Amino acid sequence: MTWLVTGGAGYIGAHVVRLLGERGDDVVVLDNLSTGSREAVGAAKLVEGDVADTALVTEVLRDNSVRGVVHFAAKKQVGESVADPLLYYRENVGGLASLLTAMTAAGTDTIVFSSSAATYGMPVDSAPIREDSRLAPESPYGYTKVVCEQMLADVARATGLHYSSLRYFNVAGAGTDELGDRAVLNLIPIVFHAMGSGEAPRVFGTDYPTPDGTCIRDYVHVADLAHAHLAAFDGMQNGHDRQTFNVGTGTGSSVLEVMRCIEAVTGKAIDPVMADRRPGDPASAVAAVEKIRDALGWEAKHDLQSMVASAWSAFNRGDAPRA
Ligand code: WQD
Repeated sequence: MTWLVTGGAGYIGAHVVRLLGERGDDVVVLDNLSTGSREAVGAAKLVEGDVADTALVTEVLRDNSVRGVVHFAAKKQVGESVADPLLYYRENVGGLASLLTAMTAAGTDTIVFSSSAATYGMPVDSAPIREDSRLAPESPYGYTKVVCEQMLADVARATGLHYSSLRYFNVAGAGTDELGDRAVLNLIPIVFHAMGSGEAPRVFGTDYPTPDGTCIRDYVHVADLAHAHLAAFDGMQNGHDRQTFNVGTGTGSSVLEVMRCIEAVTGKAIDPVMADRRPGDPASAVAAVEKIRDALGWEAKHDLQSMVASAWSAFNRGDAPRA
């Protein structure tokens, strides 16, 4: 079987590309290399281009007899989406519209979509968030994911498209040292970067209604997340089609717990600065994971220590350029 993985040169996409190759599937990666790296693609065929180029996508789908698509190519920075919402609607919503147009033209009828916990926005309480919770994004980024999920449902009704949407919680770790998260946009790489440059990491808020006053998140290993994509595709063959699933561990870790884990893994003391809250941060965001477990038989296998250790090993890989 041949897959098209858009954004397959990126952090999460590259893990899925590797996994598909390991199970003997052929993979074509479409990536504009704006944030991804050619090396991350490994042995897979790389087409350098943009999902917005509908003619190119149609040609790639047809020329490679693509059976299924995993769609990662999108913008994902919450703050950037607030500053430039049109960029996010153009790239994320327009990009999926272009991809689905190409898939319809080429007769490719199956897609696994990269959605996000950002679709939930500020949870009403600290209970694990179920897929049928209210969707109230706090950012244009989150709204683009809600709109894309709706687009998939509407196109499925009209054309018979098969899809599965995965709402990622906080992705961390590295499947191999070569596939670490090279962006410095999320807590764990930000702390590593601060440690490397002798700066004190910052804790955004210590007065939240949580046991230690700092925000709780559901960190999920990128290797587990990659397996969830294959489980979603397999699930579509077994009646779990046109579904949306959380991808998390169901377990929360606070910012201070993450920092203590980093100290234990690295053997280096961290003396963080206790800073003000960051606007838009919910006190707690933990996934309810019963639906993906019961429907797809998927459960996260790696814990926080494994994520931090693998991320630290990748961060210290010799030649990895640092953002
Ligand atoms: C995690 C926690 C911060 C940096 C975002 C997106 C989400 C998804 C994952 C795409 C928060 C705290 C952080 C720092 C800190 N991305 N923090 N000091 O905001 O939970 O989720 O990335 O889908 O959509 O919203 O992730 O890693 O930015 O923050 O205290 O220097 O760490 O306040 O509580 P977040 P994050």
